[in-house]
Amino acid sequence: MNDYPEKPIFVLFSGGDAPGMNAFLRAVVRLGLNRHNVAILGVRDGYRGLVRTARNVSGDPEAIIRLKQQIANTTGRAGLINAQQHIIRMDHASVSGIMGKGGTILGSARCLEFMEPEVRAGVYSLLKQLDACAVIVVGGDGSLSGARCIAEESDIPVIGVPATIDNDLQFTEMSLGVDTAVNTLVWAVDHFIDTARSHRRVMVLETMGRESGDLARMAALASGAEMVITPEPGPLTQAQMESLAARIEGGMTRGRGHAIVLVAEGVKFDPPQTRNRAYVLMDAFQQYFQRPGGPFPDLEVRPSVLGHLQRGGHTTPNDCILAARFAEEALEAIANPAIGNGITALRHNRAEVVPFGADALPDRARFSRAMDRLHEDLSSW
Ligand code: F6P
Repeated sequence: MNDYPEKPIFVLFSGGDAPGMNAFLRAVVRLGLNRHNVAILGVRDGYRGLVRTARNVSGDPEAIIRLKQQIANTTGRAGLINAQQHIIRMDHASVSGIMGKGGTILGSARCLEFMEPEVRAGVYSLLKQLDACAVIVVGGDGSLSGARCIAEESDIPVIGVPATIDNDLQFTEMSLGVDTAVNTLVWAVDHFIDTARSHRRVMVLETMGRESGDLARMAALASGAEMVITPEPGPLTQAQMESLAARIEGGMTRGRGHAIVLVAEGVKFDPPQTRNRAYVLMDAFQQYFQRPGGPFPDLEVRPSVLGHLQRGGHTTPNDCILAARFAEEALEAIANPAIGNGITALRHNRAEVVPFGADALPDRARFSRAMDRLHEDLSSW
């Protein structure tokens, strides 16, 4: 019989997974055990794991005792085997060998129920009964809003950690997962270049990123893609699509043999379109190239929606390092109540904790515009 730990820290991963989540888990568990002497309880499937557990034990004091026994006795990898065990005491071995693995061994989920105040109240009561010292929430925008609710509605200390491939969190220079996703996109573009060059084709590749074009523009800059289309300038009209096609055609006239076009998933059209962006652009480009008297009527366009490929894969060293730095800051903040609740952020290359609702870094928007200009001048023929 093992004892239930005193004042454990809960960690959960929420929303779309991002590479670096496992590296963060490893770092927070090892730093918790080795430096802070505190137990880390991993929550399976994000907020959903807490909501389900709260429901299972609600109004039954015996159930809480049984739950504590289960957590105490089925620890580490043994706890991870049973998918019905939502709260797992993590030990050194349970996070061994996971650092570079994409995804999250604890699972992640989008949990709409957590938006309901009474559901959250049940979770706060569960965390109190489990003597939570603090909660660490790792995820994107929606997940961090959930963490902010915990901070504002309960007296349980909470630290958020930005992890999303979208890089759309403006209070930090980087979120966990971005570096790996850019790396994956560069790998993907390299593959598309091989076939595009062989067939002298235009490849239109749709990237993820929600409403932000940052992932696409970083990938374009790093891969040498000829063109990147982002949502920030506003919806694309037919005339704008024709002028983009004209630019590609101009490059071909001057000796270019193929083109890679990245289009971010947040891009919209005027008038609106229901099909995937890559397909809309393919038709518009193809029509333009085939207009009467055009110099390249045989120039072919192929679309591809890169999708969830961008979320997986081996985590880059930069993301592993950022994960360790964020884990260190998160635990320091919990150990020093004077720092208070907040979110870890990278600012001027320093990892720190900023308050929930912190202002956007003014440099972020400037940096995005500078990347656009740089890409434009690097890829023009
Ligand atoms: O936020 C990460 C992200 O991958 C977005 O880029 C994308 O729009 C979305 O999640 C996809 O979500 P899901 O995995 O639920 O389809």
